[in-house]
Parts: sequence; structure tokens; C-alpha cells
Amino acid sequence: MNPGVRVKTFKIDGLDVAGREDQTVLDVATEHGIPIPTMCHLEGLTSVGACRLCLVEVVGRSRLLPACVTPVEEGMAVVTNSERLQNYRRMLLEMLFVEGNHICAVCVSNGHCELQGLAQTLGVTHVHFPYHYPDRPVDASHSRFVVDHDRCVMCTRCVRVCNEVEGAHTWDVMGNGANVRVVTDLNEAWGRSETCTGCGKCVHVCPTGALFEKGHSVAEMLKKRQFLPYLTAMRRRQ
Ligand code: FES
Repeated sequence: MNPGVRVKTFKIDGLDVAGREDQTVLDVATEHGIPIPTMCHLEGLTSVGACRLCLVEVVGRSRLLPACVTPVEEGMAVVTNSERLQNYRRMLLEMLFVEGNHICAVCVSNGHCELQGLAQTLGVTHVHFPYHYPDRPVDASHSRFVVDHDRCVMCTRCVRVCNEVEGAHTWDVMGNGANVRVVTDLNEAWGRSETCTGCGKCVHVCPTGALFEKGHSVAEMLKKRQFLPYLTAMRRRQ
């Protein structure tokens, strides 16, 4: 460990833990095998705190905090699993489901989808909000890949991996509110992109079936993320 980095001691779910001052609550919880659900976070990419699924309680604070972007603090007491948190997490998942068009039965990622997996883990069997059924486009103009905005949960992993790992910055975010979506080359069709290298990293970090490779069966939709641990190790060395 860098000798200049200080260590903070605190509690997670009553367990005494210690973390470097540059770590987040999620980092330390993961190191100790304490599960916190995540969606936008992916080890190896910068955390942005977009999905809020990793919300935790910190004793003495009324607001819930996203564990993936909350730095550790000396003496803090974190609660990762309470009825209140479970309710919020289920509600957030339900909102993600109704905001898009997630029809698992006909989705290319059925069985390999993090949204579906989280719903199963957190016990979301139905939703309490009206479905929006948004009219979203599918861009199949790329020779190898497809983006189906119906299944996008705006985690922005594709934007970050393309920028931080591939260095192409093909993906970006456009619009706001319910109309926000990821775009390639300033909203040019993906197939006409002048910056896309065709590496497919965006496809492999996508948690749902929003980005997928043409010509692959559902069983072949496994995500290959072997390039991420290397980047993480390099960052830690710095
Ligand atoms: S995983 Fe922390 S906000 Fe999405």
C-alpha cells in the first residue's frame, strides 16, 4: 500500500472493517464478501453512481447513499441490508422495467441479463407502476453489432468502457429525462461511425440485451470482460 494513503476504520453491518481513504464503501464491502447489488458499477471502470441500486444506510444520516461512490470515513456505521433498502432497491428495479421494453421471454440476453438476475435475487415478481411502452429505435446498421434502446437501462458502461479502455469515445449520452439515451458519433447511425473500432467492448460490458452481437444464439450471449481486471490492476499500481 502507498505509505501516504491513510486507513479508515468503520463498521459494515456491525462488522469491524478497515479501508484505504481512496476506497468506497462498495470496495470494502466487496473485499469482505458483503453483497451489495449493483448495476452501473463495473470493476475496472470509473464509478458514476447512476443507477442507485447500491444504496446503503449510514447511521446518523437521513439520506441513503450510493455505496459505489461513497468514500469510506472513519467511524461510520454502514447498513447494507434493511427492509427500507430492500424496498427501495425493488422499487428502483421496477422503475427500470417499466421505463423500457424489457420482454425477457423474447430477449437475446434471457438468462444472461443482470437486470433479470437482480429482479430474481431481490424478489421482484411484478411491478407496481404503469408500463411506459416507449417507442425506441433499434440500430442494426453496424456490420457486427446491434443496439436496442428498448433494453437499455442507461448504466453508461458502454460510454465509459469505450472512453476509458478503448479510448475511442464512440459512445456518449444525449437528451435528458425519459428521452435520455446513448448515442454513437454525435447521434450518427452506429454503422456509419467514424470512431468505432469494432472492438465489441461495449457489448461485453452491457448488463442487459441492449447491445448484442449479430448471429449469436441466446446461449452464446455470455459477456467476456477479461480486459477489465488488467486495467484495474494497472490503476492500483499507480
Ligand atoms: S452501482 Fe452504485 S449507483 Fe449504480
